[in-house]
Amino acid sequence: MLDLQRIENDLIEKLLHCQSMHGLNQVKSFFLGKKSEIAEGLKAIPQINPEDRKDYAKNLNITKQKIENLIKLHAQTLEENQIANHLRHERLDVTLFEAHPKGSAHLISTAIYDVVKIMQSMGFVYQENVEIETIFNNFTGLNIPENHPARAEQDTFYTTDGRVLRTHTSSVQVHVMQEQQPPIRIVCPGRVFRNDQDRTHSPMFHQLECLCIDTHVNMSMLLQTIRELFRAFFGKEIPIRLRPNYFPFTEPSAEVDIQFEGKWLEVLGCGMVHPNVFKMNGIPEHYRGFAFGVGIDRLVMLRHGINDLREIFENHPGFLEQFRG
Ligand code: PHE
Repeated sequence: MLDLQRIENDLIEKLLHCQSMHGLNQVKSFFLGKKSEIAEGLKAIPQINPEDRKDYAKNLNITKQKIENLIKLHAQTLEENQIANHLRHERLDVTLFEAHPKGSAHLISTAIYDVVKIMQSMGFVYQENVEIETIFNNFTGLNIPENHPARAEQDTFYTTDGRVLRTHTSSVQVHVMQEQQPPIRIVCPGRVFRNDQDRTHSPMFHQLECLCIDTHVNMSMLLQTIRELFRAFFGKEIPIRLRPNYFPFTEPSAEVDIQFEGKWLEVLGCGMVHPNVFKMNGIPEHYRGFAFGVGIDRLVMLRHGINDLREIFENHPGFLEQFRG
């Protein structure tokens, strides 16, 4: 007769030491395979004498069932352990990233973002734009005559295919007037290029253009818009003054200075859109418009007390880290 209890105990003993699926398969074939004691026992049923046969077969089947269940359970446990192990090893330690310095937006990007947001709050719409322009969009369409000094090579970068790196964001005014119908209110930041370099000039710098065209636009609206822009940008009332100036594309034209720590500093050019510009770019005569172009780099220098423009563009980490947001 088979000692079923002993078989069960043997199995439990084996399972306690079985840590892998491979091992478990071996255990399974040892206890349930063709040559296992259980299989032999089942084969022997016909030889058992009839009074004992029923009980014998029943007990044997119960044990076989138990063995199968125990093995199945152990397989499940092994699988769960394997998954848990995987998860433990693959866990993403988010605190590790602390070891790397965090980046932040550049001073220029932050200033552009701030100014655009302020202008949007006054109903201006962000305008896409391009940096390489046709001569028409950069000069002619803005009423800048053929012989104007700004067109000369010492001031302007020309491309070999007869275009220019835009010298101001005003070129976007031409795009907008040709492509949109009034009322128009756009804000357009971007890089501009001039053949010029010293402590306060860089061959590449940033401007932000605003253009407003409607039937009732006037100079006092222009002034109020500029005032509000500086108040919101610097977080306090900023004294401003206008100096009459000349731009071919505005009439009248002015330059705007802001008072900062007792000094007057030029930050912006502006004016009422010149009728020739409307005429050349398909805006009907009864409309009025104002436009201004503000120097973003200058605003950044004032905001952060930076004296040398070049520091903003050289991107030394030690310099930039002081302003991390
Ligand atoms: N484009 C001018 C400049 O670069 C600024 C300006 C913009 C003036 C819009 C008037 C109107 O200096």
